[in-house]
Amino acid sequence: MPVITNINDLYTLYQKRVPKMFFDYCQSGSWTEQTFQENVSDFADIRLRQKVAVDMTNRSTAMKMVGQDYTMPVALAPVGLTGMQHADGEIKAAQAAEEFGVPFTLSTMSICSLEDVAAHTSKPFWMQLYVLRDRDFMGRLIDRAKAADCSALVLTYDLQILGQRHKDIKNGLSAPPKPTIANIINMVTKQRWAWGMLGTKRHSFGNLVGHVAGVSDMADLGAWTSEQFDPTLSWDEVAWIKERWGGPIILKGILDAEDAKMAVKTGADAIIVSNHGGRQLDGALSSIRMLPSILDAVGDQIEVHLDSGIRSGQDVLKAISMGAKGTMIGRAYVYGLGAMGKAGVSTALEVIHKELDTTMALCGERELSNMSRENLLIPKNFAGDWM
Ligand code: GLV
Repeated sequence: MPVITNINDLYTLYQKRVPKMFFDYCQSGSWTEQTFQENVSDFADIRLRQKVAVDMTNRSTAMKMVGQDYTMPVALAPVGLTGMQHADGEIKAAQAAEEFGVPFTLSTMSICSLEDVAAHTSKPFWMQLYVLRDRDFMGRLIDRAKAADCSALVLTYDLQILGQRHKDIKNGLSAPPKPTIANIINMVTKQRWAWGMLGTKRHSFGNLVGHVAGVSDMADLGAWTSEQFDPTLSWDEVAWIKERWGGPIILKGILDAEDAKMAVKTGADAIIVSNHGGRQLDGALSSIRMLPSILDAVGDQIEVHLDSGIRSGQDVLKAISMGAKGTMIGRAYVYGLGAMGKAGVSTALEVIHKELDTTMALCGERELSNMSRENLLIPKNFAGDWM
């Protein structure tokens, strides 16, 4: 058994163990992948201020997100097809998250249904929702999330249409995979994955199958998205969703200070500064580079969280020190899931927590909630000097 000391170790195992189609789905950005790559590399431009001779006992990384207490301000992001990365992937990830004391967010495009995840966990999770053309179905999905006792609704605002990821088209991405020769040859080399999949009945989109009328090709994600996602989405949608839901609502996919001001007006509880992990608008700036301007615009009016590019506890610490009240990890936990199932997700969380805690201590702080921009060295032109 290899010794896992960082997220990259999980990535190496993940690449070996999961079929190419699902590895590529996770490990892709749109078009040139510039934004996907810069989401990660831009974190390195921020440096940390070392402080010594500070009592380091009794440290805490605990913080609140949307009014709920968590072990650290890191939520598992909604990731479509998680149950294709590992058998029963959403259930495994949700169980690891609840044991660790962080929220799990279930994607609308999950393999395990929300009822199924609720039946196999004991703490509430967050539910992600796309704005779909079929408002009846959306309404019913909100009611189902309420009935499953979900504790926050994460509304995705940056995916009215799907950004193109070349590999998904070339691979013919679908759930379940089509039995082509290339897929079969690849899957027989992934025995752990294949045995797991043979042992579960959960192979297609659990939240949708049997609940959506008139979908012509359920297996094809691209086709389903272009048929079902609402390209007319506006800020006005939040009002009815908020009313029907009645709980905390988080708007995900805000990358611009003016949009953030609009988001505040909707009455949402939090926003997530995100470019969808570089999977939508290639050429957009990284989330961490956009974070300061959004915090300056609305940080005193709404909880601002960040996702896209986090691969370590140091990245989490940088976002929180800058002023974010929460973060999300997507790929970082999917690597763990594909590598080792539930134990891999727990390992990813442990790695990130240890990095976060140790870095905080070496910065001379004992409470994560006390970290501030004072602890960071941010280049003067970090946001960039654009026309
Ligand atoms: C869906 O949200 C995706 O990024 O594939």
